[in-house]
Amino acid sequence: MTAVADSKPVGIIGGTGLTSLSDLTIVGEETVSTRWGEPSSALVHGVLGQQKVIFLSRHGNPHRIPPHQVNYRANIQALYDAGVRTLVGVNAVGGIHPDMGPAHVVIPDQLIDYTWGRPSTFFEGELEHVTHIDFTWPYDREARELLVATAREAAVPFSDFGVYGATQGPRLETAAEIRRMERDGCDIVGMTGMPEAVLAAELGMRYVSLGLVVNWAAGKSDHIITMAEIEEAIEQGMSGVRLILERSMAG
Ligand code: HPA
Repeated sequence: MTAVADSKPVGIIGGTGLTSLSDLTIVGEETVSTRWGEPSSALVHGVLGQQKVIFLSRHGNPHRIPPHQVNYRANIQALYDAGVRTLVGVNAVGGIHPDMGPAHVVIPDQLIDYTWGRPSTFFEGELEHVTHIDFTWPYDREARELLVATAREAAVPFSDFGVYGATQGPRLETAAEIRRMERDGCDIVGMTGMPEAVLAAELGMRYVSLGLVVNWAAGKSDHIITMAEIEEAIEQGMSGVRLILERSMAG
């Protein structure tokens, strides 16, 4: 990500199936606190390829914080305070679009937010003025283009488009909810894409999402969704995600 990130560290928020980065040369670990509280995990400082990186585990390490209880504000603020201005969110998702089955990588270009009750703005409390940020394009164009070019070069099976539908969880959806989301135009469904994307945007960070499909969304296959199926897709697909991350940082 050197093409877009200058000398500042690139942030990576790892989700389900990516609580650490084995290729990261770790130079230090930092436990921090922010005005919004504690982030989900320590910040792991390291180098990936040629690029300084700060890794944060969204659900904690080990995985213990459910999607609706992640302190997204603390996570984004902590990375911002550490100097991160370009941020990659890795998200496990369910596939709705017929081409987006298990182990497929998706670099979404749009999102629809179905979450509720999550603290989802930095702009509240004692404000001098009310702020409404533009959020027409929720994902950074240049960072997306870099990930897309890298995925293509690395021959990882992926889609360079997709509407990410962010649901509240922690339960998975009903088949009717997925049909509704499909009518709305959603291609993938996940529980962590929002408010992460908007909080990064509020701080002026470049944010991009790298989605790994870990199951067919509810009603899109002939069986119910099992953890075994999800684990198998993570096993199969996370190497592609790691490859894209590594190569995109190589400059
Ligand atoms: N729905 C919502 N979130 C998810 C799914 C899903 O099917 N799979 C992984 N995260």
